[in-house]
Amino acid sequence: MSLRRRTLLILGDSGVGKTSLMNQYVHKKFSQQYKATIGADFVTKELQIDEFFLTWDTAGQERFQSLGVAFYRGADCCDLVYDVNVMRSFDTLDNWHEEFLKQANPPDPSSFPFILLGNKIDIDGGNSRVVSEKKAREWCAAKGNIPYFETSAKEDHNVDAAFLSIARTAMANE
Ligand code: GTP
Ligand code: MG
Repeated sequence: MSLRRRTLLILGDSGVGKTSLMNQYVHKKFSQQYKATIGADFVTKELQIDEFFLTWDTAGQERFQSLGVAFYRGADCCDLVYDVNVMRSFDTLDNWHEEFLKQANPPDPSSFPFILLGNKIDIDGGNSRVVSEKKAREWCAAKGNIPYFETSAKEDHNVDAAFLSIARTAMANE
Protein backbone atom coordinates (compact mmCIF):
# COMPACT_ATOMS: atom_id res chain seq x y z
CA MET A 1 0.00 0.00 0.00
CA SER A 2 1.40 3.38 -0.88
CA LEU A 3 1.46 6.25 1.54
CA ARG A 4 -1.09 8.98 0.94
CA ARG A 5 0.40 12.39 1.41
CA ARG A 6 -1.61 15.49 2.05
CA THR A 7 -0.10 18.91 1.92
CA LEU A 8 -1.03 21.77 4.16
CA LEU A 9 0.10 25.33 3.63
CA ILE A 10 0.15 27.75 6.58
CA LEU A 11 -0.28 31.42 5.69
CA GLY A 12 -0.61 34.65 7.66
CA ASP A 13 1.24 37.79 8.72
CA SER A 14 4.69 37.68 10.22
CA GLY A 15 4.73 36.98 13.94
CA VAL A 16 1.19 35.57 14.29
CA GLY A 17 2.63 32.20 15.35
CA LYS A 18 2.61 29.97 12.27
CA THR A 19 5.94 28.33 13.09
CA SER A 20 5.01 28.04 16.76
CA LEU A 21 1.71 26.31 15.95
CA MET A 22 3.45 23.86 13.68
CA ASN A 23 6.17 23.12 16.22
CA GLN A 24 3.59 22.61 18.95
CA TYR A 25 1.56 20.28 16.74
CA VAL A 26 4.47 18.21 15.44
CA HIS A 27 7.12 18.37 18.17
CA LYS A 28 5.10 19.42 21.24
CA LYS A 29 7.52 22.28 21.78
CA PHE A 30 7.19 26.03 22.20
CA SER A 31 9.85 28.70 22.15
CA GLN A 32 9.37 32.27 23.33
CA GLN A 33 12.09 33.42 20.95
CA TYR A 34 11.10 34.77 17.55
CA LYS A 35 13.04 33.59 14.53
CA ALA A 36 11.56 34.67 11.20
CA THR A 37 10.85 31.92 8.71
CA ILE A 38 12.70 32.48 5.46
CA GLY A 39 10.87 31.25 2.38
CA ALA A 40 9.28 28.08 3.71
CA ASP A 41 10.07 25.09 5.93
CA PHE A 42 8.31 21.79 5.98
CA VAL A 43 7.72 18.98 8.42
CA THR A 44 5.79 15.76 8.10
CA LYS A 45 3.61 14.03 10.61
CA GLU A 46 1.96 10.66 10.33
CA LEU A 47 -1.79 10.77 10.73
CA GLN A 48 -2.72 7.13 10.28
CA ILE A 49 -0.86 4.03 9.16
CA ASP A 50 -0.98 4.91 5.51
CA GLU A 51 -1.38 8.62 5.63
CA PHE A 52 0.79 11.51 6.51
CA PHE A 53 0.59 15.20 6.53
CA LEU A 54 3.20 17.41 4.97
CA THR A 55 3.01 20.87 6.45
CA TRP A 56 4.58 23.91 4.82
CA ASP A 57 5.23 26.72 7.22
CA THR A 58 5.67 29.89 5.16
CA ALA A 59 7.25 33.28 5.74
CA GLY A 60 4.96 36.13 6.76
CA GLN A 61 7.59 38.76 6.09
CA GLU A 62 7.22 39.95 2.54
CA ARG A 63 10.94 40.11 1.82
CA PHE A 64 11.21 36.39 2.58
CA GLN A 65 8.26 35.33 0.42
CA SER A 66 9.65 33.76 -2.69
CA LEU A 67 7.25 30.91 -3.32
CA GLY A 68 6.38 29.90 -6.84
CA VAL A 69 2.93 29.13 -8.20
CA ALA A 70 3.71 25.37 -8.21
CA PHE A 71 4.15 25.59 -4.48
CA TYR A 72 0.57 26.80 -3.99
CA ARG A 73 -0.85 24.37 -6.54
CA GLY A 74 0.56 21.46 -4.54
CA ALA A 75 -1.50 22.33 -1.48
CA ASP A 76 -4.46 20.14 -0.47
CA CYS A 77 -5.53 22.51 2.27
CA CYS A 78 -4.68 25.94 3.64
CA ASP A 79 -4.40 27.11 7.19
CA LEU A 80 -4.83 30.89 7.67
CA VAL A 81 -3.53 32.33 10.94
CA TYR A 82 -3.98 35.69 12.64
CA ASP A 83 -3.15 37.04 16.11
CA VAL A 84 -6.27 37.93 18.12
CA ASN A 85 -4.27 40.80 19.70
CA VAL A 86 -3.23 42.45 16.41
CA MET A 87 -5.94 44.02 14.25
CA ARG A 88 -3.73 44.28 11.19
CA SER A 89 -3.14 40.53 11.14
CA PHE A 90 -6.92 40.08 10.93
CA ASP A 91 -7.38 42.80 8.30
CA THR A 92 -4.84 41.15 5.98
CA LEU A 93 -6.71 37.80 5.99
CA ASP A 94 -8.64 38.87 2.89
CA ASN A 95 -5.35 39.30 1.03
CA TRP A 96 -3.95 35.97 2.15
CA HIS A 97 -7.18 34.19 1.21
CA GLU A 98 -7.40 35.89 -2.19
CA GLU A 99 -3.74 35.43 -2.98
CA PHE A 100 -3.93 31.75 -2.16
CA LEU A 101 -6.94 31.21 -4.44
CA LYS A 102 -5.32 33.22 -7.20
CA GLN A 103 -2.08 31.24 -7.07
CA ALA A 104 -3.46 27.77 -6.30
CA ASN A 105 -6.37 28.20 -8.69
CA PRO A 106 -8.36 25.19 -7.38
CA PRO A 107 -11.15 23.80 -9.59
CA ASP A 108 -13.82 24.71 -7.03
CA PRO A 109 -12.65 27.65 -4.86
CA SER A 110 -15.83 27.63 -2.76
CA SER A 111 -15.16 24.10 -1.47
CA PHE A 112 -11.39 24.32 -1.06
CA PRO A 113 -10.44 23.23 2.50
CA PHE A 114 -9.43 26.33 4.45
CA ILE A 115 -9.27 26.74 8.20
CA LEU A 116 -8.81 29.92 10.24
CA LEU A 117 -6.87 30.02 13.50
CA GLY A 118 -7.05 32.96 15.91
CA ASN A 119 -3.81 32.48 17.83
CA LYS A 120 -2.24 33.82 21.07
CA ILE A 121 -5.47 33.79 23.09
CA ASP A 122 -3.34 33.25 26.22
CA ILE A 123 -1.80 36.73 26.19
CA ASP A 124 -2.85 38.83 29.17
CA GLY A 125 -5.59 36.33 29.93
CA GLY A 126 -7.42 37.54 26.83
CA ASN A 127 -7.56 41.18 28.01
CA SER A 128 -5.43 42.49 25.17
CA ARG A 129 -7.39 40.93 22.37
CA VAL A 130 -8.74 43.31 19.75
CA VAL A 131 -10.55 40.88 17.44
CA SER A 132 -13.65 39.27 18.92
CA GLU A 133 -14.54 35.67 18.29
CA LYS A 134 -17.81 36.92 16.78
CA LYS A 135 -15.99 39.06 14.24
CA ALA A 136 -13.74 36.18 13.26
CA ARG A 137 -16.70 33.83 12.87
CA GLU A 138 -18.46 36.38 10.67
CA TRP A 139 -15.42 36.52 8.41
CA CYS A 140 -15.42 32.72 8.18
CA ALA A 141 -19.13 32.64 7.37
CA ALA A 142 -18.67 35.21 4.61
CA LYS A 143 -15.92 33.11 3.02
CA GLY A 144 -18.13 30.02 2.74
CA ASN A 145 -18.19 28.64 6.29
CA ILE A 146 -14.52 28.19 6.96
CA PRO A 147 -14.00 26.29 10.25
CA TYR A 148 -12.59 28.50 13.03
CA PHE A 149 -10.44 27.66 16.06
CA GLU A 150 -8.99 29.87 18.78
CA THR A 151 -5.56 28.63 19.71
CA SER A 152 -2.54 29.14 21.89
CA ALA A 153 0.66 27.63 20.56
CA LYS A 154 2.23 28.58 23.88
CA GLU A 155 -0.25 26.71 26.07
CA ASP A 156 -1.03 24.02 23.50
CA HIS A 157 -4.67 25.03 23.44
CA ASN A 158 -6.76 23.64 20.57
CA VAL A 159 -3.67 22.98 18.43
CA ASP A 160 -4.26 19.26 17.86
CA ALA A 161 -7.98 19.81 17.35
CA ALA A 162 -7.36 22.45 14.68
CA PHE A 163 -4.82 20.43 12.71
CA LEU A 164 -6.96 17.30 12.92
CA SER A 165 -9.96 19.20 11.69
CA ILE A 166 -8.19 20.49 8.60
CA ALA A 167 -6.70 17.04 7.91
CA ARG A 168 -10.17 15.48 8.04
CA THR A 169 -11.62 18.15 5.78
CA ALA A 170 -8.82 17.61 3.28
CA MET A 171 -9.43 13.86 3.30
CA ALA A 172 -13.14 14.37 2.77
CA ASN A 173 -12.50 16.69 -0.15
CA GLU A 174 -11.35 13.97 -2.55
P1 GTP B 1 7.10 34.53 10.43
O1 GTP B 1 7.95 33.30 10.30
O2 GTP B 1 7.89 35.79 10.42
O3 GTP B 1 6.03 34.58 9.38
O4 GTP B 1 6.35 34.48 11.88
P2 GTP B 1 5.45 33.30 12.48
O5 GTP B 1 4.04 33.49 12.10
O6 GTP B 1 6.04 31.97 12.14
O7 GTP B 1 5.54 33.53 14.06
P3 GTP B 1 6.33 32.65 15.16
O8 GTP B 1 5.72 31.30 15.31
O9 GTP B 1 7.77 32.71 14.88
O10 GTP B 1 5.95 33.44 16.51
C1 GTP B 1 6.26 34.81 16.69
C2 GTP B 1 6.41 35.11 18.17
O11 GTP B 1 5.16 34.92 18.84
C3 GTP B 1 7.41 34.23 18.91
O12 GTP B 1 8.12 34.99 19.84
C4 GTP B 1 6.55 33.19 19.62
O13 GTP B 1 7.14 32.71 20.80
C5 GTP B 1 5.29 33.99 19.91
N1 GTP B 1 4.06 33.16 19.94
C6 GTP B 1 3.61 32.32 18.98
N2 GTP B 1 2.45 31.74 19.32
C7 GTP B 1 2.14 32.22 20.55
C8 GTP B 1 1.04 32.00 21.45
O14 GTP B 1 0.10 31.24 21.20
N3 GTP B 1 1.07 32.71 22.62
C9 GTP B 1 2.09 33.57 22.94
N4 GTP B 1 2.02 34.21 24.11
N5 GTP B 1 3.12 33.81 22.12
C10 GTP B 1 3.15 33.13 20.93
MG1 MG C 1 7.61 31.43 10.95
